Amino acid sequence: MAASPRREIDVLLHEGRRVEPPEDFRREARVSDRTPYRRAGEDRLAFWEERARELDWFEEWDEVLNWDPPHAEWFVGGRLNAAHNCLDRHLDGWRANKAALIWEGEPGDRRTYTYRELHREVSRLANGMKEMGVEKGDRVAIYLPMIPEAAVAMLACARIGAVHSVVFGGFSPGSLRSRIQDAGAELLITATGGYRRGNVLRLKRDADEAIEGLDVVENVIVVRRGFSAEGDETFARMQEGRDHWYEDVVGEASPKCPAEPMASEDLLYILYTSGTTGKPKGVMHTTGGYMTQVQATTEWVFDLKEEDVYWCTADVGWVTGHSYIVYGPLAAGATVFMYEGAPDWPERDRFWELVERYGVSILYTAPTAIRAFMKWGEEWPEKHDLSSLRLLGTVGEPINPEAWEWYREHIGGGECPIVDTWWQTETGGIMITPLPGVTTTKPGSATEPFPGIEAAILDDDGNEAESGYLAITEPWPSMLRGVWGDEERFRETYWSKWDDTYFPGDGARVDGDGDFWILGRVDDVLNVAGHRIGTMEVESAVVDHPATAEAAVVGRKDEVKGEAIAAFVSLKEGYEASDGLQEEIREHVGQEIGAIAKPADVIFTADLPKTRSGKIMRRLLKDIAEGEALGDTTTLADPDVVERLKQKYEEGG
Ligand code: WTA
Repeated sequence: MAASPRREIDVLLHEGRRVEPPEDFRREARVSDRTPYRRAGEDRLAFWEERARELDWFEEWDEVLNWDPPHAEWFVGGRLNAAHNCLDRHLDGWRANKAALIWEGEPGDRRTYTYRELHREVSRLANGMKEMGVEKGDRVAIYLPMIPEAAVAMLACARIGAVHSVVFGGFSPGSLRSRIQDAGAELLITATGGYRRGNVLRLKRDADEAIEGLDVVENVIVVRRGFSAEGDETFARMQEGRDHWYEDVVGEASPKCPAEPMASEDLLYILYTSGTTGKPKGVMHTTGGYMTQVQATTEWVFDLKEEDVYWCTADVGWVTGHSYIVYGPLAAGATVFMYEGAPDWPERDRFWELVERYGVSILYTAPTAIRAFMKWGEEWPEKHDLSSLRLLGTVGEPINPEAWEWYREHIGGGECPIVDTWWQTETGGIMITPLPGVTTTKPGSATEPFPGIEAAILDDDGNEAESGYLAITEPWPSMLRGVWGDEERFRETYWSKWDDTYFPGDGARVDGDGDFWILGRVDDVLNVAGHRIGTMEVESAVVDHPATAEAAVVGRKDEVKGEAIAAFVSLKEGYEASDGLQEEIREHVGQEIGAIAKPADVIFTADLPKTRSGKIMRRLLKDIAEGEALGDTTTLADPDVVERLKQKYEEGG
């Protein structure tokens, strides 16, 4: 098992510290006692049915769950529409004029959409898409920066039953291309650019490169964002007949567009995520169960109240942005704050300035961001009045207890409860988490399964263990329904370890109180700054460089990012190791996958450590990259290889 031993030690050291929900928080909380846990324990399906009733259905379901492992159908026979639940149903009363989305761009431009305005914008875009021939079930790729149009585009798809596939704006043209091809997307929605640390990322140019020669894409809708002052042509060369300005599409379309009544199990979206081997897989989410769980978790985990200003700092390109910027909070009628850019632009207090300006009351971010804030120092948050905050959340990777304590103290004023939420792209919604008015929290522990979720720690044979693999033992409403176009991979990856039990790929431990401590991935998936990256993907990008003969990629511990990528590379005959080549390989990976996948270290080596059967021993490389004592090397074909490598690595710093 590969879960980090350091994390395990950390966990053991910190089990003792406990933080109770503050009494006044508990009194006012949406959930203030264990009733939901009891209720779900007595009858799990009835519990989820009650949660589903919090949505607006066009037709009620006949059956709560049809479980034919590994395939589950929830609320079978029911009909609803996700966009209708996020918009239309809020228009009856005073919520119509409530701010649904408050947005600030990195350069400081601001926009607010009320629910009524958002509804109108979404309906117009939906009609515009229909005019281009987009129909129910068709796939639409979305490649946008963090601007309101990203949410509008997703909801417009949902409105007409088109299936969106959002691709993170930081991914390369090649990554976008393979995702468009795999999903068969006929429409692409993108922007001229997006702001990041004062620069404009040229999205349209990358999108053009991505779809060059791809017949499947018939239309491209382009949002104007981040032109240079002269309207620089290279930002957006519009191709006649294929490319359309967003403002023209929306401007000409009617604001009346009935929401398509979707079957509960109709596809809502595909989202690509990295796995152990091969190319990223298209995780599929459907409508009824997904919406049920994301709404219920948004309301309870974040204790969402009508007057809250809720900010989730994720990008819409990741699942967190799907479930907890768009679908969950808007279904719950929240005021969602959204920010386009970097936390340190123009200064390191940008987030705190935003919290103060908009009166953010709930903040949901990632441990990697918290560790960066810690490093920058508390003088930055101290410049601002953060007293509007009443709840803090974290997601994406294990949080180290020090970061948890710092977050609570310096951002939460020592009072805000912290919800450490464990879940994945595949689970769709939050699975293991405190409820802030109920749960006694411990820094570093995601605590217990949400009501209606059944989780356990199992060993390889499926027996319960104190320390082992995290397992989800019963189907849940927002579970993935499959991998797009690859049933075999779906079964193999998630359902082959144990019988009818879901394998998430994380190591975990349970303590004496029954609280869960997530220890990290046990497969070859890296978690760099909260982003999932497959070692194999990076390896193939490195090997794709003409100078590379062979490569092995491992994650090593990084103080801020959690993990950083180290690539061990052997060169082809005729190539010399050099700093220039190191940089070239890093850049190459950036171009192949995206900047997030660039290795922090590139280490040249004549040979890679292999077993006698030729398998690369990544565990040893990890030890080397982390400066650890070397583990067992007796199975190596040539034990000297590691010694030489270790020396070299240490010399190279
Ligand atoms: C990790 C992000 C510890 C875990 C929502 C999981 C966490 C992977 C936590 C999913 C947490 C997420 N504590 N680890 N609170 N939340 N993880 O698909 O390894 O981008 O398997 O979904 O992130 O990453 P994904």
